[in-house]
Amino acid sequence: MPRNKVAELALFPPSAEVNKQGHVVIGGCDVVELVKEFGTPLYVFDELTLREKCREFKQEFGKRYSNTFVIYAFKAFSNRALAVILKEEGLGLDVVSGGELSIAHSVEFPMDKVYFHGNNKSPDELKLALDWGVGKIVVDNFYELGLLNQLAKVRKSKQDILLRVTPGVDPHTHQYTTTGTIESKFGFPLATGQAEEAVKQAVSASNINLLGLHFHLGSPVSEVKPYELAIELVLSFAQEMKGKFRLDLREFDIGGGFAVPYTLDSRAPTISEYAKGITGKLNRVVSKLGLSHPRLVIEPGRAVVAQAGVALYRVGAIKDIPGVRKYICVDGGMNDNIRPALYGAKYEALVANKVLNAEKEIVTIAGKLCESGDILVKDKSLPSVQPGDIIAIPVCGAYCIPMSGNYNALPRPAILMVKDGEARLIRRRETYEDLLRLDVI
Ligand code: LLP
Repeated sequence: MPRNKVAELALFPPSAEVNKQGHVVIGGCDVVELVKEFGTPLYVFDELTLREKCREFKQEFGKRYSNTFVIYAFKAFSNRALAVILKEEGLGLDVVSGGELSIAHSVEFPMDKVYFHGNNKSPDELKLALDWGVGKIVVDNFYELGLLNQLAKVRKSKQDILLRVTPGVDPHTHQYTTTGTIESKFGFPLATGQAEEAVKQAVSASNINLLGLHFHLGSPVSEVKPYELAIELVLSFAQEMKGKFRLDLREFDIGGGFAVPYTLDSRAPTISEYAKGITGKLNRVVSKLGLSHPRLVIEPGRAVVAQAGVALYRVGAIKDIPGVRKYICVDGGMNDNIRPALYGAKYEALVANKVLNAEKEIVTIAGKLCESGDILVKDKSLPSVQPGDIIAIPVCGAYCIPMSGNYNALPRPAILMVKDGEARLIRRRETYEDLLRLDVI
């Protein structure tokens, strides 16, 4: 079945196809068979897509700026099997908590390749990072700067850090995921003089080694321009700090935020386009300011995992409200994918067990949670759906599972990794027993 006959397939992993029975196949696995064996809701990740994205980031940035280090933002999907793949692909890791750090540590992820982010790292988390030899700590605020210096002093060590600065650039994305503007809770603003004060304190701190600067504008950032603006601002600041405090900018971390298309009518720059704009600007500004070329660090999360992941649900109740809307209710919803409810995020869908049925109707795919806002896809044209059918939603690899919860005491989905016709479980389905385990009576 040629992929172009089903437009939505373009959003699925490149391995996806439709077989003779009209079933979606991912990584050589018929998803109808997968849900028979593993149940629903089920998240399926295509291993080759994950590896391909890692390589694409390394190649596209590396060929234009050889001293580039790609670190994956673990928050987009943190999982032990994924960490092993990232390790094999030679990526570094951006973690934001002791929990994420522990997952990485459990698979012997090289700690010197780990960057520890976050706007409120606890003393215990910082101690853990020092104990495990985390490569770089990205310091967000004055409290953390003082605390880290003290903790390192007790250990008689010197910790490599970057300072997170807020450039004051609007990335034109959802307000909840905008971080580059001055009112953000993250980082030291350039505009207020606090970034300068942070550099001053960091260079004179006895147990801290200031390696460079970091910014992250927001997520997803669907234009290249905001990165270019921020690069110019932050490098100019670095040059000023070189003059004032002898700051030697050895690392320059421009964060993540690279967008991906979620729907047929949405567009995002390609990895190559981001790489071209970012490295071009970096090279030009570094030369203009007479700085030496720093190591460029990039932190993609979504763009590594989003397309690789597909969510599968089984249809139960169908409710047709004449003249209003037809609801197709599935066995998951906002507990495993809160993005539509939280950000108004849009998705496409296929009926995975009858992709080729010609007869279509407009339906709304609702979850099973007790909230009217629990809608996954609104007004989508699908082949006529019956209870028991399987709904596949593409581009669910990022920020669905890691933001999932147990609202309504729903156990969280199982997750599979597929490749060459083989499926392996990378997280088992939660059970009612799991849900009971933490409560104490
Ligand atoms: N670096 C830093 C410092 C970040 O805060 C983030 C994301 C990233 C890198 C990775 O951004 P990415 O490449 O994945 O866009 N829950 C939201 C996204 C929140 C992003 C938080 N920080 C969503 O579902 O869209």
